Amino acid sequence: MTESDSSPALENLLNETRTFPPSPDFAAGAVAGADTYERAAADRLGFWADQARELEWSTPFTTVLDDSAAPRYGWFTDGRLNAAHNAVDRHVAAGHGDRVAILWEGEDGESRRITYAELADDVARAANALTALGVATGDRVAIYLPMVPEAVVAMLACARIGAPHSVVFGGFSAEALHSRILDAEARLVITADGGYRRGAASPLKPAVDEALAKGGTAVEHVLVVRRTGGEVTWTEDRDVWWHDVVPQASAEHEAVAVDAEHPLFILYTSGTTGKPKGIFHTTGGYLTQVAFTHRAVFDLHPETDVYWCTADIGWVTGHSYVVYGPLLNGATQVIYEGTPDTPHKGRWWEIVAKYGVTILYTAPTAIRTCMKWGSDIPAGFDLSSLRVLGSVGEPINPEAWMWYRRVIGGDRTPIVDTWWQTETGAIMISPLPGVTAAKPGSAQVPLPGIVAEVLDDAGRAVGNGQGGYLAITEPWPAMLRGIWGDEQRFADTYWSRFPGIYFAGDGAKKDGDGDIWLLGRVDDVMNVSGHRLSTTEIESALVSHPWVAEAAVVGASDETTGQAVVAFVILRGGEEITDRPDDDAEVVAALRAHVGQVIGPIAKPRSILVVAELPKTRSGKIMRRLLRDVAEKRDVGDVTTLADSGVMGLIQQGMAKPT
Ligand code: WT7
Repeated sequence: MTESDSSPALENLLNETRTFPPSPDFAAGAVAGADTYERAAADRLGFWADQARELEWSTPFTTVLDDSAAPRYGWFTDGRLNAAHNAVDRHVAAGHGDRVAILWEGEDGESRRITYAELADDVARAANALTALGVATGDRVAIYLPMVPEAVVAMLACARIGAPHSVVFGGFSAEALHSRILDAEARLVITADGGYRRGAASPLKPAVDEALAKGGTAVEHVLVVRRTGGEVTWTEDRDVWWHDVVPQASAEHEAVAVDAEHPLFILYTSGTTGKPKGIFHTTGGYLTQVAFTHRAVFDLHPETDVYWCTADIGWVTGHSYVVYGPLLNGATQVIYEGTPDTPHKGRWWEIVAKYGVTILYTAPTAIRTCMKWGSDIPAGFDLSSLRVLGSVGEPINPEAWMWYRRVIGGDRTPIVDTWWQTETGAIMISPLPGVTAAKPGSAQVPLPGIVAEVLDDAGRAVGNGQGGYLAITEPWPAMLRGIWGDEQRFADTYWSRFPGIYFAGDGAKKDGDGDIWLLGRVDDVMNVSGHRLSTTEIESALVSHPWVAEAAVVGASDETTGQAVVAFVILRGGEEITDRPDDDAEVVAALRAHVGQVIGPIAKPRSILVVAELPKTRSGKIMRRLLRDVAEKRDVGDVTTLADSGVMGLIQQGMAKPT
């Protein structure tokens, strides 16, 4: 079963008996009550059709689920709609044009307040500008931007003309950007001169220049937002300033109605091989589930709530719960550009107090970091506006959950621990804040309309108190429709472990009440600060360095980041390597920098250990389990399947030395 099955931490988890039922007041005013489960259970497809009808369709659908080409399911297939129209214009037409859509807070203290009417104009102008730059319906657009309002405008402008966007996180390297631009055959790149991070301007445009210089792309233009005012190198005829073309464009634009199954976006995520997967989502089903979950899980009352999700738009959380979910629901939301500790460690709480944030959605790693900084920091701010807290990205340990509720939520707010993935598009397993008695550390139950199971090795549903693999046993509206350009990999990765059933790649256990506890990945995917990284991808980055002969990477548990990247490398022998320092520390520093260059700073190993051998089975497979034991400073378990059992002693001696 899953590796963590026998760990003491899990036993503690499953002994967790505290529950926090919603207060009667909260339950009485909640968007979703217990009847939501009943309605969905009685008629699942009818339930989703009702949710879909909350959107505005230019051509109403008559089909709900098309399973004729499973696992390439289709939802609401004969309907047509436009995502940007639904996210913005619809609210203006309904008389909410003056409602604030975005309360933007720059890291440097600059702020902007954008109403739905203003956002509608901005998006229409940007859509016209994209069209003028040659982008047509169906063309792909790469977006490589910091957290500025233009990022939201750019995504919606693409959606408005039916051009799928592919957002690449600003922390990824030029090389990673290049491979994503190539894979999606993007025609345009939207970027900025830079953004503010940790108190300084950090450039972005040079990475785009470097990526495009590698060649082979279909990119015709680069649209550049000015944010920092820093120097940029300019390629005439290719590069265009946003401020030269967008504000001048007409604010009249007819949104392009697309088929429900028209691709809305591609988002790359790490898998178990070296090559990231371009997960693609389509329009009707994705928007339906994202809007429903955002309303129900966060108990959104759009007239009064101020919502804030701290995720970057470079991740799926930013797509679903910064851009599409909140805007589809006409919410007012905070978007913050920078880091939580700039210029001081109370910045987030200052923002909550300043804007009267009522709903906060963030990641366990951030909560644990704030815990480490100390409760007195949030205590210095008025957090009484908060009424719902959310968590996403990795399992939240009960201590962090309790701290979040007590210190941030004033012992009063429900917490929703939301399990989902880039692939699922929207939240799948989570308490409903007005219904569920929350249990610290458990994501608990599938949402109304979602059917999930924990399966054993043979694909049978396990009973209460047992563990296995998390699987989604019925199709859901926001499900991925494929891996861009690789149908076979889609079938192999998700639909072959249990034929015809979606395999999530997570271990899970059901407790005595049947509540689900997520136990982490069961494949070669690591979760560092809620971000997915592939062991294989980092191994190939290391091996691409001329000094490295072989590399093995494991995710070792880390108090703050959940997991941390730990690498073991064997250096190349022979005379041809002349530039390698004798000092291992210098080698390690150079290799860390190299990984940062190939993938991005987030992938840099926490530690790299230079070793003489790696533990392998007799068939030559690296035994990562043993390396994880070493990295986590545990006694190595059974080594009898090793080809050379002496290897582990050598590695452990090496580990004892500081790197
Ligand atoms: C993986 C998906 C979904 C947005 C952010 C990450 C882990 C996510 C939880 C949670 C336990 C969680 C899983 C999943 N995960 N949320 N609430 N409890 N684990 O998206 O990069 O696609 O990663 O994140 O392991 O498979 P992603």
